[in-house]
Amino acid sequence: MARLKLAVLISGRGTNLQALIEACADSAYPAEIALVVSNQGDAPGLQRAIAAGVPAQVINHRAFAAKQAFEAMLDAALRNARVELVCLAGFMRILSPWFCERWRDRLINIHPSLLPAFKGLETHAKVIEAGVRITGCTVHFVRAAMDDGPILVQAAVAVASDDDPVRLAARVLEAEHRCYPLAVRLIASGHVRIDNERVVISGAVDAPATVLINPTA
Ligand code: GRF
Repeated sequence: MARLKLAVLISGRGTNLQALIEACADSAYPAEIALVVSNQGDAPGLQRAIAAGVPAQVINHRAFAAKQAFEAMLDAALRNARVELVCLAGFMRILSPWFCERWRDRLINIHPSLLPAFKGLETHAKVIEAGVRITGCTVHFVRAAMDDGPILVQAAVAVASDDDPVRLAARVLEAEHRCYPLAVRLIASGHVRIDNERVVISGAVDAPATVLINPTA
């Protein structure tokens, strides 16, 4: 069966890109990366794409006078590569409503919190400041509002009393690396539909039947 063609959009280190590269290396995985795009020419993630032999392209937003022109170029690159699903992975540009609409239900993002809580940047510092016991990560379909859209996969991560943002981020990142390949697999294997702006997942999904309680009793 044909594998779903992905684009992964990055701006930085690309560890989620790496998790997707590794998932796609398995010939039984139902997706493949057709294109990596970075808006930053020096993003370390580009080296990961090159090392994996994945086509990579830099589209520098600073080279365009208007956001619309940058996004039109991005859109053209995605279409040219016959991309079917766009995965934002640490892509630090907010996409315009027209772009989100053009790629509606074919554009997903990963965010390091349990959305809809803690949208935006400095997530882990805000989580610690708020004193919540459980945080995590979310893969969601993208809508025009930031960190908004139908939720596809989430994982919970316990917050320790002595956590700092760096340590917490590292544990959440491990969860991200499990969630993103899972989310793509669910879409690529046809298990996902969106009903009334909620994701419905059908068919066999082996979710762990554990309950996370923090602190443990
Ligand atoms: C991740 O924490 C992701 O949730 C957020 O940006 C970070 C990207 O990290 N959107 P990496 O570039 O994938 O390592």
